[in-house]
Amino acid sequence: MTTTPAPRPDGRPRKQIHLGAHFPGVNNTTVWSDPRSRSHIDFSSFEHLARRAEAARFDFFFLAEGLRLREHKGLIHDLDVVGRPDTLPVLAALAAVTDRLGLAGTINTTFNEPYELARQFATLDLLSGGRAAWNLVTSSDAFTGANFRRGGFLDYSERYERAAEIVDVARQLWDSWSDDAVDADAETGEFLREGAVQRVDHDGKHFDVHGTFTTPRGPQGHPVLFQAGDSGEGREFAAATADVVFSLHGSFEDGQVFYRDVKDRLAAYGRTEDSLKILPATTVVLGDTAEDAAEEAALIRRQQVSGPTAIAYLEQVWGRDLTAYDPEGPLPDVEPDVDNASLTRGKVRHVKDPGPVVAAWREKAAAHGWSIRDLVIEVTGRNQFVGTAQQVADDIDRYVQEDASDGFILVPHLTPEGLDPFFDQVVPLLQERGSFRTEYTGTTLRDHLGLELPGVGGSQAADLEGARA
Ligand SMILES: Cc1cc2nc3c(=O)[nH]c(=O)nc-3n(C[C@H](O)[C@H](O)[C@H](O)COP(=O)(O)O)c2cc1C
Repeated sequence: MTTTPAPRPDGRPRKQIHLGAHFPGVNNTTVWSDPRSRSHIDFSSFEHLARRAEAARFDFFFLAEGLRLREHKGLIHDLDVVGRPDTLPVLAALAAVTDRLGLAGTINTTFNEPYELARQFATLDLLSGGRAAWNLVTSSDAFTGANFRRGGFLDYSERYERAAEIVDVARQLWDSWSDDAVDADAETGEFLREGAVQRVDHDGKHFDVHGTFTTPRGPQGHPVLFQAGDSGEGREFAAATADVVFSLHGSFEDGQVFYRDVKDRLAAYGRTEDSLKILPATTVVLGDTAEDAAEEAALIRRQQVSGPTAIAYLEQVWGRDLTAYDPEGPLPDVEPDVDNASLTRGKVRHVKDPGPVVAAWREKAAAHGWSIRDLVIEVTGRNQFVGTAQQVADDIDRYVQEDASDGFILVPHLTPEGLDPFFDQVVPLLQERGSFRTEYTGTTLRDHLGLELPGVGGSQAADLEGARA
């Protein structure tokens, strides 16, 4: 039963929470060794999570991407290897076994061509009846690039320039068919309405595209665009271009700061705050009591951060081999090697300057009496909601109503059933308080997210330099 939603404390109307279900694949938050964990590559696993997310009326299912197996000190890192099949076939197959759930796929803008990406996402949008979303990521590292024809050919500083041009070309292609292009009139013999398909002519720094597009405009006009990347340029790109930001900033205060920062950038592009949804990654641990949940959360963190993982994590930051150190002992007494960028390859590096990080960690570890493993458990923890179902529902709602986010992308530690307790216990509580839908009110992902349908001809390049000096 839905009650009439109460307004927010400051009188503004209550926001509706947006929720995505992340199927994690590689990531050492995924505990593949837990006996309850099942296959990360069987279709039945993808199907389980998608069907359950749809039954719970989630906005979308979400897949991340990595284009090369991660290596640590030249070896494939076991904790990160659970498989990650190609995104688009998985989402296409899920389109056939779901009806309303959005299907969001992460695809890199550095190693792909705009024509093929535009065609693949337009096809997914058609196949799914308007449920496709593209999470644009921009990794440009040479290690990943070595798997591609041109290797690590793109400079880090050019990653958003190329991404913006890709989106510009894709939008021109999606807009090159009018909504009513297909006439299919057997009497006149006219299949396509005259003039309904335009040729695209694009000459840019990264791409020249001249010709016609093969794929009719999908139900969403343009697939929903997500952005994941946290630098100032990344945020500007999101403000110029994206419908959703997948963010790292999950804690309440950090979330509020990030939220304001990104939403304040929108006006310069003539956009409203509602046109961009901010969805941080988060995890949830439930228990019958707060104490049960805290105990379970601590156990999960110890599963996620084994002794070798703790050492490997410190080695990435220190830039040194630290195998001689005991993970249950104190932090290394050697200084970091600041010139050694990273021993780990293929993983997004968020710590740019190790000096201050190491100093702060030493201080924290000393203050709390933490071992290496305790510290890594602490500093690598994602935002977590831990407690009874009621506490977690209260917390999630507070984050959204008080603008620390517009919702969350939930990352389970067990595949594929890790979110089942959330679907069963927390979703009904959010629905009861009027913060989350009890039924889908539309058919497309744009409908679920409350996003406008882009009109044909509205495409324009994301002018990153011009719009905000
Ligand atoms: C929350 C988040 C999720 C990301 N997910 C992926 C991913 O699944 N695959 C990938 O190749 N890069 C991913 N990235 C990396 C970004 O696309 C980008 O390459 C990186 O953050 C560097 O850009 P920046 O300097 O703007 O942060 C992610 C980044 C963030 C912040």
